[in-house]
This record gives sequence, C-alpha cells and structure tokens, in this order.
Amino acid sequence: MTRPQSGIFAVGTPSHTYLEFDLRPGADAAALVTSIAGLRDPGSTVAGIDIVSGFRPELWRRLRPDGIPPGVVGFNEPIEGIEGFTMPATQHDAVVWLAGASYDVVFDAAHRVIATVAALATLADETAGWSYRADRDLTGFIDGSENPGWLDAADAALVADGSPGAGGSVLLLQKWTHDVDRWESLSVTSQEKVMGRTKPDSVELDPRPSDSHVARTDQDDFGDVFRRNMPFGTVSRHGTMFVGFSPEQRRLARMLDSMAGRVNGQRDALTRFTTPVTGAYYFVPSVDALREFVPAP
Ligand code: HEM
Repeated sequence: MTRPQSGIFAVGTPSHTYLEFDLRPGADAAALVTSIAGLRDPGSTVAGIDIVSGFRPELWRRLRPDGIPPGVVGFNEPIEGIEGFTMPATQHDAVVWLAGASYDVVFDAAHRVIATVAALATLADETAGWSYRADRDLTGFIDGSENPGWLDAADAALVADGSPGAGGSVLLLQKWTHDVDRWESLSVTSQEKVMGRTKPDSVELDPRPSDSHVARTDQDDFGDVFRRNMPFGTVSRHGTMFVGFSPEQRRLARMLDSMAGRVNGQRDALTRFTTPVTGAYYFVPSVDALREFVPAP
C-alpha cells in the first residue's frame, strides 16, 4: 500500500497557511524536496499541525520520472475565457500547506518552514486561511456539500496503486478575491441562482440555472474531486482559497475551462462576483515517495 500525505484528509482544522516557494537560481531541487520532506512538527498531538507538501509537476518529474502521472503540468498559461474573463497562471516550485487548531501554532510552524528552506527557496506567496462558521465560504454559502464522504475521499483524491505517482494527488491551488459590494448587493434569491443551491442549508435548486456554479462544475460531468477550500482575508478584502485534489489533472482543468465558458459557451455566474488572482498546480507525492529523500531515522 502506498501511503498518502494524511493532511489532505485531516478535516476540521480551523487555521491554515499556504506557503508557495520559488527555488533560488542554481539551488538543487532535490535538496529542496529533502528539506521540505524533513520538516518536523514539534507540537503535541493536541497543539500540533498537519503538513501537506507539493511540488511543481515538472520539478517532481525531473527527480522522479515515473513518480507522477504522465501529462501532468504546471499552471503555465493563463486560461482565457469568454467575455474577457481570464484566470492567471502563477505557478511556483513548491507549496507547503499547514493546518492546525489555532493560528498561533500555524504561525510559528510557518515561520520555521520559511526559515528552514530559506537557503534554497524564497517565499513567493503566503495566505492565511481560517474557517468561517464551520463550513461556510465568505459568500455565506456552505462549501463542500458535494464533497465525497470520508469513505470515498481517497478515491476522489489519490492516484491509484499500481499507477505512476500512486498515493499522490494533483492539487489545484487557486486564490479568489470576492467583489464584496457586488455580491452583497444581490438578494439571497439571486445569490442562490448564482450558486445553484439554497443559502441557509445548501439544497440544490431544481431546476438549477445552467450557468450556476454547481452546474458548471458538476462532478457527474467532470469526475469527482476532493475540495479543502478555505476562506481568507479581512472584512474589506477577502475570498476563497480553492484547494482541490484529484488523481487526474484533467478533472480540475476541465472544471476551470467550464467555469471560464470554454466548454459550452456559458461562463460560471460565480465568476462575475469573484476573481481568481493566483493559480498553480502541484503534485503532492505519497509519504513513501517523500521518504526516499529523507532516510528513516
Ligand atoms: C471563489 C471560488 C469558489 C467558491 C466560493 C466556491 C463555492 C462553492 C459552493 C458554495 C459550492 C456548493 C456546495 C458544494 O457542493 O460544495 C461549490 C460546489 C462545487 N465547486 Fe466550487 N467554489 C469556488 C471555486 C471552484 C473552483 C475553482 C472549482 C473547480 C476547479 C470548484 C469546484 C466545485 C465542485 C466540483 C463543486 C461540486 C459540484 C457538484 O458536483 O455538485 N469550485 N463551490
């Protein structure tokens, strides 16, 4: 059995930090993997943190040509949608996602991670995420209703045993900033038409508008993914960190194309109220694959 990074599935943590790094010019990519894979969290089981790490697909493939599904690539080009809508490409070399019970432990751990890799990589993006009213996005809607349950999450996220990159996952990390005034100027009924679900209890509308978010990302059309989205930001500037895992890049990429209007000529209504400001794919290797870079003590 190939073991995944368990933090992918460690739901229920309210404090998060996403650190994206660029390899320094001339620095050794294998040394960066060793440095990240060797991170140790000194916290206890109560005040500790979950660590999930991923790498630019091209970087990981250079180190482990058979350790990643064929064809997985970085977010190297922006996605040009219809009506001038664009999703930017902001690919970096590595990501470390830290999650914990409170922001102080996450903050201290992030500080240590940044210092540990400093000789090899520079911090390119840092985003602090926090859960809002248990499971709501800052649009006020419940986010994650159609996520696969705990028995099915692994199948929705992980490359199957026997395939290149087994136990790993393709992560799409995409930061969206909400247009707060425009969103809040809508009635709840209009907001529900945008999402395709009711606001208080996340019941799918029947019929749902064909440009609603749930219609444009329907997993029956594109395949299952496992989402760990988190709110981020302040009252005046906030949004969603989309954190989506899949065994196949195609599922996530097709969803983005669909949201941008490139699948059936209909743009996701949600993209009129929130804007992607980053976008990167990372391959999140199994712990067994990472272990090869850090011999067991
Ligand atoms: C600002 C950005 C986003 C927000 C606020 C958001 C919010 C939501 C909400 C409220 C739902 C309905 C409840 C649920 O099933 O979780 C949903 C569903 C979903 N979203 Fe998003 N989402 C965002 C971006 C994305 C992106 C970028 C993708 C894909 C790349 C995506 C994929 C999905 C999928 C697969 C579903 C479930 C669809 C189904 O099978 O019913 N979302 N999202």
